[in-house]
Amino acid sequence: MLASEARSPARDRPFGPSRPGGATARLEVPGTRRDRTDRQKVYRTVEWTSDWMQGGINERKKGERSMGRLTGKIAIITGAANGLGEAIATRMAEEGAGVAVLDRDKDGGAKVVDKLTSIGGQASFFACDVTREDEVSSTIAAIAMQFGRVDILVNNAGMEGANKPTHELTLKEWDQVMTLNVTGVFLCTKHTIPHLKQAGGGSIINISSIYGLVGGADSPPYHASKGAVRLMSKTDALIYAPDRIRVNSVHPGFIWTSMVDRYVHDAGLDREEARVMLDALHPLGGTGEPDDIAWGAVYLASDQAKWVTGSELVIDGGYTAR
Ligand SMILES: NC(=O)c1ccc[n+]([C@@H]2O[C@H](COP(=O)([O-])OP(=O)(O)OC[C@H]3O[C@@H](n4cnc5c(N)ncnc54)[C@H](O)[C@@H]3O)[C@@H](O)[C@H]2O)c1
Repeated sequence: MLASEARSPARDRPFGPSRPGGATARLEVPGTRRDRTDRQKVYRTVEWTSDWMQGGINERKKGERSMGRLTGKIAIITGAANGLGEAIATRMAEEGAGVAVLDRDKDGGAKVVDKLTSIGGQASFFACDVTREDEVSSTIAAIAMQFGRVDILVNNAGMEGANKPTHELTLKEWDQVMTLNVTGVFLCTKHTIPHLKQAGGGSIINISSIYGLVGGADSPPYHASKGAVRLMSKTDALIYAPDRIRVNSVHPGFIWTSMVDRYVHDAGLDREEARVMLDALHPLGGTGEPDDIAWGAVYLASDQAKWVTGSELVIDGGYTAR
């Protein structure tokens, strides 16, 4: 049997392209209601709270201490006002990094900085649209000036974009995703590299996706953009290895942030049903938490990963293991 035949329809088409005119996409939920109940018992479940829907970050467990793995380092995190970026900023600040929260969402960015400083972190917000070279260039220069150096860049800002079959996509819809998810990574990398060289090395972490590793019958521009980010990471890993700048990609499975919430909504799906179906796609059970990705980013940013470059850190509850 071909690998493609062995895949479940749900795996290949988690949501299916949304249809013009707002028609509801068909949802394929494997198993019966009884199976779902059993699965929910076995799998780790995450409370579906409003905080969770906002990509809420867990409190540290009692007695859990920072190991100072990033003490003395300065990190730029794009898209850090919400979701995965917020979690990465939080864990990096806790591990001792000075954090530049870079986002175009000013309110969200200010809230994240307040939170980080309230827990003793060193953080500042920088309003910036990563698709605009003039803004990226001046913002990164301002960050380097304020913090005195740059050691870590997390290219996290991204979007899901239009979920239509390829032949129905407009060029504008295609460009919108590529401009943020690919050009944004290029611009931030381009303007951060000189500062990393000046620091004697550093770590660039590009947030790709499981959709940058495997296909799925939905969101063509998103797949293309995340596949591009994967190879941009490897190429830059080779170009900048002599400068001791490490470049790696991270490939998250589904994590219920505002991005996934939009994705489900735009597909015209019921959230509860979509949640059950998404949970079933991850063999370890349930969708992930923002912290699952944040801890991976902390590792790649730290000196513990000093011999890791050009690699793909897959954090997906087993989604791509099949
Ligand atoms: N959530 C998931 O399931 C998932 C899975 C795989 C990969 N990812 C990737 O993780 C990254 C973060 O996703 P998320 O789920 O946290 O999304 P999110 O929508 O919750 O957060 C994205 C952040 O990027 C910011 N942003 C958007 N456009 C910007 C621009 N032009 N300039 C500056 N900032 C901008 C937004 O303001 C927001 O704060 C994305 O690259 C996404 O593709 C997410």
